[in-house]
Amino acid sequence: MKILLASSEIHPFSKTGGLADMVGALGKALARAGHDVALVTPLYGFIRAKFPNLIREEWTFDLPLGTRREQGGLWSLKVEQGLTVYFVEHPGFFDRQGIYFEGHISYADNAERFIYFSKCVAHLARYWPQPPEVVHLHDWQTALVPALMLQQRTEGWGTPPPTCLTIHNLAYQGVFPADAFALTNLPQEFFRPDGAEFYGQLNCLKTGIVFADALTTVSPRYAREITTEALGCGLDDRLRQRRKQLFGILNGVDYGEWNTAKNPYLAHPYSAAQLDGKTLCKLALQREMGLPERKEVPLFGTISRLAEQKGVDIELGALEEMLSADIQFVLLGSGSPAFELGYQKLQERFPGQVAVRLGYNEGLAHRIEAGCDFFIMPSQFEPCGLNQMYSLRYGTIPIVRATGGLDDTVTDYNQDSTRANGVKFQEYSARALAKAIRKALAIYSQPDLLHRFRRNGMKADFSWKQTVPQYLKVYESAQSLSASPQGAGAPIPDISEP
Ligand code: ADP
Ligand code: GLC
Repeated sequence: MKILLASSEIHPFSKTGGLADMVGALGKALARAGHDVALVTPLYGFIRAKFPNLIREEWTFDLPLGTRREQGGLWSLKVEQGLTVYFVEHPGFFDRQGIYFEGHISYADNAERFIYFSKCVAHLARYWPQPPEVVHLHDWQTALVPALMLQQRTEGWGTPPPTCLTIHNLAYQGVFPADAFALTNLPQEFFRPDGAEFYGQLNCLKTGIVFADALTTVSPRYAREITTEALGCGLDDRLRQRRKQLFGILNGVDYGEWNTAKNPYLAHPYSAAQLDGKTLCKLALQREMGLPERKEVPLFGTISRLAEQKGVDIELGALEEMLSADIQFVLLGSGSPAFELGYQKLQERFPGQVAVRLGYNEGLAHRIEAGCDFFIMPSQFEPCGLNQMYSLRYGTIPIVRATGGLDDTVTDYNQDSTRANGVKFQEYSARALAKAIRKALAIYSQPDLLHRFRRNGMKADFSWKQTVPQYLKVYESAQSLSASPQGAGAPIPDISEP
């Protein structure tokens, strides 16, 4: 199958979070399953410096953007058999230090940047010499593509390929003032409550939810949660209307990158059968973070965007309480200045126990996953979450709130004492998290139990092998899904609470 995937970030070229990991890995997995995959993404300035081998394609974009026209170029990189990444070049929009923001401030022209990018994607889908058989969009930055393609049907594009939109996080919708709609050059009839309009504004994600043939999100539980008022972010009614075309497919993990046996970021390889290397990774991490090197002290870690979603407030509260015990904690993250300050203050108050690194550091992310005993992820909501799955493979026991993909991937002792691989808590409070941390300490004090949790985690398989067939099924049925009133999938049951 010829598949076009479009995303505003793709690992290893650009990344602010799991979206990049997911799209990069999905592209690779589809290609390795024998499909022909084109990934399309913006050419940010920093990509060219890191990947000097990009090839300029004989291709230019000259597309309307409201009342003006904007020109762009196209570059490519063949990554492996069946997988080519195409980079849309527009220096004015993309040759910047950040992807969406700089110095905590969003770029003022994000509407123009990503509407333009979406137009380039629709244009490629229509005119590229090897036209795709399905166009798979990711998040609000490309969610206008189905509407743009639909409109082109009336402008001579006989049968555009079916579209699939994956919602990685419903909380980010790409909402812009109404006048941004003019940048789409879509007819005014698209700007209606049953289209792109949302309380008088342009809502890019909603537009995709209305017009894409198939919708997916990144875990089964989150698929149910977003159809409820509590976690529907104002779009639950729209999602309920499309429930027959909405599928929850758990993200896979790229174990080629996230593994403990052959990993350029880890000085001490290890495996479930040979865990000595994990202890050495722990001592090395303590050294790297400036903490006392003590293998007996329980070491907790978090790697995160510091956003409200991630449960930063309850983590700070719980740590405040728990740091009176003999534990250590390391954080790698960046985000809201208030949250960054919160962790910095914790570090000042508990020197020798807390070490904080603000910023983005891929190698350190691997070393934290490997060196810690426990990984804390207390999210308010979590569409899928990748770090807890990385933790499991690294033999690092995740402590998570039972929401979204966290609930789908972690098994608590109370659910199944034999297969337990993590600690789960329900209530969103510092008190409940502190209690979960105390449970973790109880596990830590019983070596047999600790080993069982670790072994179970390391055995868990979230590889793309299981995920790829599910996407193929959605792609294949996308066309009929839009036509059939029944849809192809099982309906998503109502749930009363998230
Ligand atoms: P989200 O996409 O909501 O941020 P995920 O758990 O799906 O959450 O994915 C986060 C990804 O980003 C993981 O690969 C994680 O290791 C990475 N990450 C987050 N913050 C940092 C950071 N400061 N440095 C390096 N990697 C980070
Ligand atoms: C989003 C979600 C996260 C998910 C990631 C990849 O960033 O917040 O839960 O794992 O996308 O799908």
